[in-house]
Amino acid sequence: MSRKPNRAVLGLLWGDEGKAKIIDLLGKYANMIVRFQGGANAGHTVMIKNTKTVLHQIPVGIMRENTTCILGAGMAIDLPGLFDEIKMLENSGIDLFDRLFISPRAHLVTPITRKIEEALESKNRIGTTLKGIGPTYSEKALRTGLRVGDLVRNRHFKDLVKKQYDIHKPVIQKVYGLEMPSLDEVVDYVMIYRDQLKELVKPCLFLVNDALKDGTGVLFEGAQGSMLDIDWGTYPYVTSSNTTLGGIITGAGVDARKIDQVIGVVKTFTTRVGDGPFPTEMPPQQATDLRGSGENPWDEFGATTGRPRRIGWLDGVVLKHSITINGVDALALTKMDSLDGLPEIKVCHSYWMDGFITDSMPATITELAEARPIYETLPGWTENTRGITSFSELPENARNFVLYIEKMVRKPIILVSTGPNRSETIVIKHSRK
Ligand code: GDP
Ligand code: IMO
Ligand code: MG
Repeated sequence: MSRKPNRAVLGLLWGDEGKAKIIDLLGKYANMIVRFQGGANAGHTVMIKNTKTVLHQIPVGIMRENTTCILGAGMAIDLPGLFDEIKMLENSGIDLFDRLFISPRAHLVTPITRKIEEALESKNRIGTTLKGIGPTYSEKALRTGLRVGDLVRNRHFKDLVKKQYDIHKPVIQKVYGLEMPSLDEVVDYVMIYRDQLKELVKPCLFLVNDALKDGTGVLFEGAQGSMLDIDWGTYPYVTSSNTTLGGIITGAGVDARKIDQVIGVVKTFTTRVGDGPFPTEMPPQQATDLRGSGENPWDEFGATTGRPRRIGWLDGVVLKHSITINGVDALALTKMDSLDGLPEIKVCHSYWMDGFITDSMPATITELAEARPIYETLPGWTENTRGITSFSELPENARNFVLYIEKMVRKPIILVSTGPNRSETIVIKHSRK
């Protein structure tokens, strides 16, 4: 049997690029799918034969039988959410037995971290998903975090919780004036899952590294997007993990050289949920047209929070930045069909900043807020591209749009998605060049 490649699939914008669709598609060539960062803040939608499933913490590879799915050490896990997801999958007939494993090193979201987030968002709004992500990672960095392994192995787990509880109680109550959950409530939030969790906790480090070597194909499932990366995104309007290639190395404990291909996922336009600068954001009416009303499952409303997504044109400066920090080899372009019927399509290729034209992403949001996008305006198409499966069948202007992006970022587009379903995809063989 020929060796299958190990791949990373990463979002290149501010999340919701359609990663799940691409991961589900490429999951066919992988034996193992690994989440390495983030947690229930992610909303990953897969459509299989028009049936929609949204996953938050479980890798989308779970939708293909025989794949092993890993929740890696770099994740921040919310147990009630995770077990709801497990129940939802089991109810829809998916067998999870011996296929889903969790790293003992992953951190736990608790009612304390969720409460801290509520407090912080009231004074310093980022527009988070309120899933406890930021404070769970900050507890990790402060070394007061609680881990999956502690819950299942440490007989004194309650003492660890009490330590975290006593540190935060006075601040939450006295400074923020919020009600603190009782210690028992905090302990129960995770403790009731202890026995079920024991069966899922495995030394994922070895499982993943063995799989990387044995040639059966490992796929790393990125969550969020590169512009939400804590180091390389639009700080402070970011999430609290490394969503980029480096996050795989630390979050799954692997040798980066074993990853054969990094695929960056990019939509034909840009969306963002939450606050923060967004240079190519559209005026409200134009945004409403592209967002949709929410009637269709693919309309641009948050898969986790239901919030309407902010909409903008594709931003080549963002794209080039994300390609660099991830070492992207090739692109997957999603939502081609969403542009059908637009008279013209804009693509930002550089910014006008401080009297200069640049295509480098500035490091601060102060500079980014001042950046004025410079656009190339391309002609649109009136034809319907939904469901097209070959490049040559795309309208000429749609083909030119694909070629324009490839030329702008100097990377091949190997997949074009023309609808949310698995089958609605064009695979581009680059020998055509
Ligand atoms: P993710 O977080 O990157 O996995 O993306 P989301 O699941 O949050 O949002 C992407 C949405 O776009 C989902 O509703 C997908 O079903 C949908 N989608 C993905 N690719 C396409 C496409 O090519 N066309 C259309 N119309 N919808 C798509
Ligand atoms: P997927 O994997 C889009 C955004 C939030 C907020 C910021 C910080 O579906 O692409 P957090 O709760 O992480 O502390 O919020 O990050 N955000 C996402 N936006 N898609 C996501 O995940 C996101 N996960 C977090 O809206 O702006
Ligand atoms: Mg999403």
